[in-house]
Amino acid sequence: MSTVDLPLLPLGRGTDPLSERGVDCPGDLPEPSDPDLVARARAAKEALGEKLFVLGHHYQRDEVIQFADVTGDSFKLARDAAARPEAEYIVFCGVHFMAESADILTSADQQVVLPDLAAGCSMADMADHQQVVECWDALTDAGIADVTVPITYMNSSAAIKAFTGAHGGAVCTSSNAERALRWAFGQGQKVLFLPDQHLGRNTAVLQLGLSLDDCVVWNPHRPNGGLTVEQLRDAKMILWRGHCSVHGRFTAENVADVRARIPGVSVLVHPECRHEVVTAADLVGSTEFIIKTLDAAPAGSSWAIGTELNLVRRLADRHPDKQVVFLEKTVCYCSTMNRIDLPHLVHSLESLVRGDVVNRIVVDETVAANARLALDRMLALP
Ligand code: 13P
Ligand code: SF4
Repeated sequence: MSTVDLPLLPLGRGTDPLSERGVDCPGDLPEPSDPDLVARARAAKEALGEKLFVLGHHYQRDEVIQFADVTGDSFKLARDAAARPEAEYIVFCGVHFMAESADILTSADQQVVLPDLAAGCSMADMADHQQVVECWDALTDAGIADVTVPITYMNSSAAIKAFTGAHGGAVCTSSNAERALRWAFGQGQKVLFLPDQHLGRNTAVLQLGLSLDDCVVWNPHRPNGGLTVEQLRDAKMILWRGHCSVHGRFTAENVADVRARIPGVSVLVHPECRHEVVTAADLVGSTEFIIKTLDAAPAGSSWAIGTELNLVRRLADRHPDKQVVFLEKTVCYCSTMNRIDLPHLVHSLESLVRGDVVNRIVVDETVAANARLALDRMLALP
């Protein structure tokens, strides 16, 4: 059975450049063409032994993921990072907010490294701390801050997680957003959901049974979020106007097209997709859920997957007995996830072998203390 119906697009393009942090990697990066890169990564890992723990998010390139000690979605990786106290060095092959969370959840004598500091997340960049403080002030003026619980998606800066923790809220990921929202509605009457409007709306409407009219969108670039005081008071879900530049590109037409092209296809998408896409799909879930669903699917079944391309290509390779296609032919990789490549990984590992910790992620302890409250509330969810 044909397994690949995937666009072959240049690496490192396709999402917006908001996360380009302009941070140069210290020292000389190995040349990507160096034929010894795999052997060098292997040797460095071996030299570091138990001191090293390498985590790899499912969106990482094949050349990187082969060196991960564990792979996972952002929830699993946060839990795994916290469960490895004996590792002196945690090398996080993922994006900035994931490495920050690992630093917050690990002890002070463990050091977290992000192989390329420019690996940010454009969605996380859509909510900055000052904007969130201004939003909260507006909720206070409207008399609703006391009954509002902030929930922030893992894809947010440590400062936003700290704000959330300090205001009685919790972090969530795509695999526990429903539980986090149910918990939040047990604590208060309204939720301020940061920064992904789509995950917030999809979870509230499709899993909690709220209506679209219960949701309003706070636009941080408009006075009072572009909302009236009445709209804020009437809403149950106040959604931050953020989105993922990769998942935001999938459309309901993509779903209709693939159904027309492949009779009997099942459409499986990530909850960062727009509401109309998730509604038109057959199944929705985190990257870990997507992988498990494909693993359990019968031979001969057909799947159209709406998530990042590295993962979809890997799924197609792993399931030659199933037809696995990408939901949209022109959508590209997550450019920031893709910044972690083999030269950066080798550079990080070899530097650690020399005792030189490059590209370390350190969260300020005051910020970390409040962010840990929000992360621990997530980890304690039933
Ligand atoms: P997961 O938690 O599903 O791995 O998603 C993380 C992410 O960044 C998706 O864009
Ligand atoms: Fe951020 Fe989207 Fe990339 Fe995930 S896929 S890291 S949400 S830009």
